Amino acid sequence: MQPVNIAHRDRLIVALDVPTIAAAEAMIARLGDSVTFYKIGYQLAYVGGLPLVRQLAGAGKKVFTDLKLHDIGNTVARGVESVASLGATFLTVHAYPQTMKAAVEARAGSSLKILAVTVLTSYDDGDLHAAGYRLSVSDLVEARAQQAQVLGVDGIVCSPEEAASLRKIVGHQMNLVTPGIRPAGAASGDQKRIMTPARAIAAGADYLVVGRPVLEAPDPKAAADAIVAEIAQAVK
Ligand code: C5P
Repeated sequence: MQPVNIAHRDRLIVALDVPTIAAAEAMIARLGDSVTFYKIGYQLAYVGGLPLVRQLAGAGKKVFTDLKLHDIGNTVARGVESVASLGATFLTVHAYPQTMKAAVEARAGSSLKILAVTVLTSYDDGDLHAAGYRLSVSDLVEARAQQAQVLGVDGIVCSPEEAASLRKIVGHQMNLVTPGIRPAGAASGDQKRIMTPARAIAAGADYLVVGRPVLEAPDPKAAADAIVAEIAQAVK
């Protein structure tokens, strides 16, 4: 069950993980009306992709800026204001209390929503220990999700496997956004914990981030349409 009424097509976020603006623009043109929500991350942002946020927003699309901010509160706040001024819909920050608090305060008055990244999915307990943490991944994910909720963060990025347990912790007010999505039959690539779109929605995900299964499909537009159709079937 999802917290708010989101149009089926808006639940698919296509990750523009491409190396150039030209490649991004070509993919956006190819996907046309089939995709309403895009994600811009490090790869595209650092080759001049941020003006594309304003361009896409101006064309009526939504944009998830996956910049995973983490710095002193003042710097986070000013960065959040800048991203909000571009017209982005979502922005990720690392789930440290000071960072989340600064980001939530700075997005007030704009339509930008802040998503917290609890623990990177490439981390296991050993990686956390090596970084000086005493908690396990699952305990730290849970603790940070609770802190995010208390601080008024709008949503959480999590693996589809974490969605059901996080939904119990944060209730239905926060958005759960899940990468690691693979339609049945698609190559898993380097993703280890994957789910089909339908299963991720059933587990409680609100938005699905999909990169390669759309970008590398012989017909990306048809691949996006098929995922949206699967989402529509799964949403109750
Ligand atoms: O190509 P694929 O569908 O695996 O792309 C997933 C997208 O979601 C990528 O942009 C990746 O950086 C992002 N992501 C992820 N796992 C996370 C967080 C973000 O795959 N835990």
